[in-house]
This record gives sequence, structure tokens and C-alpha cells, in this order.
Amino acid sequence: MTKSNLNATARHILEANDRGGYTVPNGRVYPFQWNWDSAFVALGFDRFDRNRAWTEIETLFRAQWDDGFLPHIVFWKDDPGYFPGPAVWGTAKNPVTSGITQPPVAASVVRKLWESARETPDAGTYVQRLQALFPKLLAWHRWFHQYRDPDRRGIVVAVHPWETGRDNSPEWDAPGEAIDVSGVGDYVRRDTSHLDAKMRPTKLEYDRYLALVQFGRATHWDHARIAAENPFRVADVGMSMILLRANRDLAALADELGKTDEGAEIRSWIDLAERGVGWLWNGEVQAWCSRDLQTGRSSGFITSASFLGFYAGLSDAKRDAAMRGHFDRIAGMVDFMMPSLDPADPGFQMIRYWRGPVWAVVNYMIGTGLYEAGDAMRAERVRGDTLALMEQNGFYEAYSPIDGTGSGGDDFSWTAAIWLAWAGGEQRT
Ligand code: DGY
Repeated sequence: MTKSNLNATARHILEANDRGGYTVPNGRVYPFQWNWDSAFVALGFDRFDRNRAWTEIETLFRAQWDDGFLPHIVFWKDDPGYFPGPAVWGTAKNPVTSGITQPPVAASVVRKLWESARETPDAGTYVQRLQALFPKLLAWHRWFHQYRDPDRRGIVVAVHPWETGRDNSPEWDAPGEAIDVSGVGDYVRRDTSHLDAKMRPTKLEYDRYLALVQFGRATHWDHARIAAENPFRVADVGMSMILLRANRDLAALADELGKTDEGAEIRSWIDLAERGVGWLWNGEVQAWCSRDLQTGRSSGFITSASFLGFYAGLSDAKRDAAMRGHFDRIAGMVDFMMPSLDPADPGFQMIRYWRGPVWAVVNYMIGTGLYEAGDAMRAERVRGDTLALMEQNGFYEAYSPIDGTGSGGDDFSWTAAIWLAWAGGEQRT
């Protein structure tokens, strides 16, 4: 397909998945508004409909809870094609939402949206929209620092694999053993009626996901209790790097809006993370890895999230050289970067969710970080591979790093958005 056809197809996917003010990741598999999906989707809309891009984020924040928490799913309308739906979560909120969050990419996206709006004749309108969004973004980041960083290390503790966005990464296997699944009961999955079970998490993994939903629900989604007692508590390297990056972007927005006190508060979180994030460095495998808070054990898995240190703005000559070494080693083993699990790992599976496939949104973050770190060569490898995957196979949820086969849902919103915003490099019209 030519580039202009791909541009048209990508736009068409976003328009077709638009449900009026918010976009579903994929109409069949994921029929609601997802938190980090929406943020990435806004980057795509921004290339052809600026107003719609901002609306996507504004709609998401309409579901923010009073304590600043921003849910991972907003159930604006029920849909029987998805499990676990609103009745299972039972958060008793209006709108109904899930009770867990997702990687905080929104502030970084809003900064991008603002930078593209700032030079236009409509800047006055968008600065008002930015002013309205800023306190909501800040409240969400405060929530993370209040509830999800118990040891004040500037890291993010995830209480559900779905919060990390990397649902069934092997990083959650050992910590997941602590989850009692004996009371989960019978349920019918819907994901495997839309997609080949070979691409999806196993029954045991799903039992664990549901046990954690049931645990949260039993606390009435009391985030303080969940943070203290949840059977799964893992310092996620992905969310930790993403929050550090998002705090840098939020601090830049605070400066832009002249919010000095808020800027100082955000910078204190950045300092904390710069001092504390080293706890996630695994000296044995020489890589960034997640760490189980309950056992203190590092996962030891090299995943695509391990490469987000550059995106977080961290710089350390030895660690960076080690990560570049891993990059080059992996680049020699696959046709398409960046696999979600090191292909040298015996558990690598090229199409199973988060155990091998490539995600365009993760590539966008890795590529952006590498560019910013001055590593144009590796950044270009990541961007070029992302572009090739889409050119050869269309806009899938994920792709095999070995042969490019699509994995998961097709006509996927955030993949189309990453084409428009980054991989395909469409010019603003
Ligand atoms: C799912 O249902 O697979 C989602 O990833 C949960 O967020």
C-alpha cells in the first residue's frame, strides 16, 4: 500500500472507532474507552483534527475520581462483547469505570498537543483547555505518588498486571503466584471468542486477573487498603519510567502556565525518582527490570519496557552502554524491533500477548527516548521497523518480531495513531 493510502486508512480507523468524544481501541475486542490507548489516539487525531484530539483527553478526565485516580477503562456504554464488564468491577461511579489505572502517558501527550497548538491562531483557545487539564493531570500524578510509591523511591507499584498495560508479561509470573485463585468461580471469557487463544493470556493468568478484581471490589476500591494489602504489588519498570517522563513533561507545562508551586512539587518527584529508580536496575542481567515489592526480587526479564530508561530522560554511561548492548544483540535476532520479550529467553513466543510481539506504542516511546539521547541510528531502526510492520501488514494491535504477522485485534486505534503521529510521518494538513 502507498503511504497516502496508509494515511487515509489510518484516519479512517480512528474515525470508525470514534464513539463520539472517545475512541475504542478496537470495536470488537475492546469496546470502551481505555486510558493510555486514548492518550496515544489523541496524538493521531492531532494530525488532522486538533479539536478532536483534545476532546479525547478531556473525555477521559471526565471519568477521574475525586482522589485524582484515573481509571484504566471508562464504560460510557455497556457492551456484552467484553468481559469483565462494568457489573464485575462494581466501582459504583458515574460514569462506571474499572478500579485500576494504567501507564500515565497523558501528560506527555498533552505537552505534545500543546506544542503543536501553541504556534497556531487558535492558541488562545487551547491555552484555556490546557489550563483546565493541568490540575487534573497533576491530581493524577499526585495520586501515584501518594498511593503507589510506598517506599518513596519515585517508582510506581502496580496492583494488577492490566495496570502495567503489559498484561501477561513474564515479569508477572512469579509475583502472580501469591494470588489465591481458589475462589474465582466460573466465568466466560470474551477475548478468546474474538481472537485465537494462542495469542491471548492463559486460563491461569485470567484467573489471577479476576481474583485481583474481586479483591479490589471487596475493599470497595479503597486505594489505601489495596496499596497496603493487595496480593500483587510489583514495582513496574514500564510505569515507573513513563511517570518519570510524564513528570518532566508536566513540569514543562507548569512553567508554561506560570505555575511555580506546582512546578516545584513536580520537580521534587523527579528528584526522588532520579535518586530512587536505580532500585530497578538488575546488576546481574545488566538491564532495567520490574521488582516484586513483596519478595524484593527483580524479575530478571529483559522486556521492551527495559528500554524506556532513555524515554525517562535517565543517563548513566555504564547502564546506557549495557542497554545499547542488549539492543544490538536483540536487533541481530529479529527482523522487527522491539520484541516485548528478549528472544533469547526460553519463554519467548512470537505471537502471544506480551511474550514476544512488538507494540507500536512502545516503539514510539523507545524511539523517542533514543532520539533524545542522541542515538539516531538505533532510534531510526525502531521507527523504520514500525513503519515496515504497518506497510506490510496493516494496523494490528501487535506484530510478530520474527515475520511481522499481525497479533491481536486488527484496525487498531493506537497503531493507526502512531502511524499518523510518528512512524509514517504524515504532514499536518
Ligand atoms: C484486556 O481485557 O485484555 C485488557 O487488556 C484489560 O485492560
